[in-house]
Amino acid sequence: MIIVKNLWKRYQSIPVLKGLNLEVKKSEVLVILGRSGAGKSVLLRHIIGIEKPDEGQILVDGFDITSCRGNALYQAVKNMGMLFQGAALFDSMNIEQNTAFSLLQHGDPITKKPYPSHVIQKKVKEALEMVGLEGTEKKMPSDLSGGMRKRAALARLIVYRPSILLYDEPTTGLDPITAQQINELIVQIQKELKGTSIVVTHDINSAFFIADRLALHKDGQIAHIGNVETFMQIDDPIIHFLREHCYTGIKKEPFNDRQN
Ligand SMILES: Nc1ncnc2c1ncn2[C@@H]1O[C@H](COP(=O)(O)OP(=O)(O)O)[C@@H](O)[C@H]1O
Ligand SMILES: [Mg+2]
Repeated sequence: MIIVKNLWKRYQSIPVLKGLNLEVKKSEVLVILGRSGAGKSVLLRHIIGIEKPDEGQILVDGFDITSCRGNALYQAVKNMGMLFQGAALFDSMNIEQNTAFSLLQHGDPITKKPYPSHVIQKKVKEALEMVGLEGTEKKMPSDLSGGMRKRAALARLIVYRPSILLYDEPTTGLDPITAQQINELIVQIQKELKGTSIVVTHDINSAFFIADRLALHKDGQIAHIGNVETFMQIDDPIIHFLREHCYTGIKKEPFNDRQN
């Protein structure tokens, strides 16, 4: 469970997060909607500990990650992974090397030793199979299409099986069919890793497809949060717009049914 309490962040004295509160339940997919520049990426960077707030706390399974640094912070966030806006692959490494990167860097969290190479190979193969990129091991990122690069970035994320996954605009810039493939992968990854996912997007169709709950990030705060039906009934100009122009009523099966 992730609890964000009264989070404040200013850049050059301009507040972006203004006392933001948020609770993310274990094993849910929470989709955060909001207009460009609302501060969604800023919020994710705080949750994964890359940035420190001016005020407030972020508790991950009861542990306050805003008060620790260095190795303590690494220990606290090592079960988290983030898919950054843009695929952010290493251009000079092939897909196999990109996918293996975190395994090579951090080793086995249980034994605290480096992974044997055959274990790395197996994990990389499984991750690439899961995203449908088997056979691309020796290809360079520049050889792949935008959608494939996004899937490679997903493989690099899931290879170490994080229990908290953060996705920053995973479908932005992709054509609708590729975007839907990424949506389906996010749902599949959620089922397989049984993790907690936070997905930031302004792609409404993605949001409806993957969300257990929806939240609206507005004016530096989470203005509204709820399950899809409840959220869509909320009286807010942005939600009104979504209701009028975008809502198809199609969503995935309810959260509780997916626990089995
Ligand atoms: N490192 C930074 N330095 C200064 N301003 C920043 C920084 N990061 C984000 N901002 C500002 O914070 C606001 C929110 O940014 P961001 O979280 O990227 O928005 P979005 O909701 O589109 O992801 C923007 O006005 C952006 O310019
Ligand atoms: Mg952003």
